[in-house]
Amino acid sequence: MPAMSFEDFVRSSRQRVDSYLEEALPPATASEKNLQAAIRYSVFNGGKRVRPVLAYAAAYAIGEITRSTDGVAAAVEMIHAYSLIHDDLPAMDDDHLRRGKPTCHIAFDEATAILAGDALQTLAFQQLLNVHEDAPQLALRQLAILCNASGPAGMVLGQALDISAVDKTLTLSELEQVHRHKTGAIISASILMGALTADANNQQLDALTQYGEAVGLAFQVQDDILDVTGSTEAIGKQQGADMALNKPTYVTLLGLSGAREKARELHKAALEAISEFDERADQLRAIADYIVSRGC
Ligand code: IPE
Ligand code: IPE
Ligand code: MG
Ligand code: MG
Ligand code: MG
Repeated sequence: MPAMSFEDFVRSSRQRVDSYLEEALPPATASEKNLQAAIRYSVFNGGKRVRPVLAYAAAYAIGEITRSTDGVAAAVEMIHAYSLIHDDLPAMDDDHLRRGKPTCHIAFDEATAILAGDALQTLAFQQLLNVHEDAPQLALRQLAILCNASGPAGMVLGQALDISAVDKTLTLSELEQVHRHKTGAIISASILMGALTADANNQQLDALTQYGEAVGLAFQVQDDILDVTGSTEAIGKQQGADMALNKPTYVTLLGLSGAREKARELHKAALEAISEFDERADQLRAIADYIVSRGC
């Protein structure tokens, strides 16, 4: 059977995770102004699903995609959706536009947005318990990875560093730490968790760790670039938001061509990390290409 094209792989991954999310999230109720509606609004408002696609591609590179992969894909997307709801709050980036629509706290209110984020975080961990009911050792391993990547050693630390960097000049290595934590950690976790659902061995996990660190940082470098070069319409969020807040980014530190060069280096490192993998890793290779060339 010919290998699936990247476009078909992405389409099928999005369908799988969306149908899992549809069932796992609390049902929408008649009223618009409530927690359930805010959760669904923030999950089903047009995200690219990059982290779930990475989880599926990592599982596929190692072996088979299973129900466990669906649970992992949904869990990382829930953490991501929660992180964006909180990231957009007035106390953080104070953004009004996300995926071309009003941010959660604008569409609802601040308290509901905070609680929707909180709920999505808990729901993420619950999925890992649910899908690994018959595999407690795997459940524990998955939980440990996601706790580490999302909590105060990972994404939350990155967000704290990002907020405290406003109006400051960071060194390149300080900025790299911010980006690796706020964005890279969940991206890396998505890959490792996906690979574990296909029973990856330690050698494969080591290679995927290298790959994940490279694409995770590259993803945020490209996000910094798009804040400058993208249009509000294309990126679905306010263009120039980083500049308006005086946030240090790869573009402010290296300039546009320096940031692009950094993305190219990381792309190369990502491909090198998985050079020993066979053609089943082509979806991972295609995602690395996409991450540094995407326009939204
Ligand atoms: C945006 O992530 C936040 C970052 C970590 C840069 P995405 O660009 O993956 O956002 P969606 O989910 O597709 O909207
Ligand atoms: C967001 O980084 C990282 C997390 C939400 C953890 P940004 O603040 O750069 O993301 P955007 O640009 O608002 O999507
Ligand atoms: Mg932010
Ligand atoms: Mg932001
Ligand atoms: Mg950004």
